[in-house]
Amino acid sequence: MSKLSLDRILQSQGFGTRKWCRELISDGEVAVNGETVNDYRTAFETEGLSFTIFEETWDYREHVYLALNKPPGYECSRKPSRHPGVLTLLPEQFTWRDVQPVGRLDHDTTGLLLMSDDGAFIHAQSSPKRHVPKLYVATTDAPVTDELVTQLLSGVQLHDEPAPLAAQSCRRLDEHRLEIVLEQGKYHQVKRMLAAAGNHCEALRRTMVGQLELDSLGLEEGEWCYLDAGQLALLAPSPS
Ligand code: URA
Repeated sequence: MSKLSLDRILQSQGFGTRKWCRELISDGEVAVNGETVNDYRTAFETEGLSFTIFEETWDYREHVYLALNKPPGYECSRKPSRHPGVLTLLPEQFTWRDVQPVGRLDHDTTGLLLMSDDGAFIHAQSSPKRHVPKLYVATTDAPVTDELVTQLLSGVQLHDEPAPLAAQSCRRLDEHRLEIVLEQGKYHQVKRMLAAAGNHCEALRRTMVGQLELDSLGLEEGEWCYLDAGQLALLAPSPS
């Protein structure tokens, strides 16, 4: 249990500098439990706290764990250069909280992107040692043949990798689509594996991370949600 002054609480939740948060409070823009608080020194227990700023209510969260249904045309890099960054799809306070994508999707890849401001979580989740399976649906230029699926399952050699990389599982969905599960997260991995196997990836969508399915979240493209403890538990690696 910890008590914090209201200005510190707002700052920790990404609502701006301490000075700015103090101004918001003095201007009567912040309410706690339905009551406007004008003194920024007023302290509150953070656990279970809800506060209202500009008539929008937020729960206090020590860290945030988010899922975004990423649309095409957004970059995951910290300093996006050619396309807008994925953070522009989230409320501004998440940028102030230093929310980051967990791993990266290419600007034209769509689907499930996890994001958080918990460095330990990001590190653990993106560690290659964790073997978290990620499921992608790839649309291919040339037809999906049995031979292509066999090649992806047995391993293809990428030019900068010491050993062939294999899909954990792979199956044909229809003439130009396949489902592929990877445990690694190498740069452009699906696209490069498909190219190495003699095909070309036209579109790529990530539909599952661990056992967390994008469809279960009910997000339209461009929408995000918080992940609860049960959903986070689904991000565990597959049993080895
Ligand atoms: N593999 C790719 O080629 N691109 C992605 O965005 C993700 C996996």
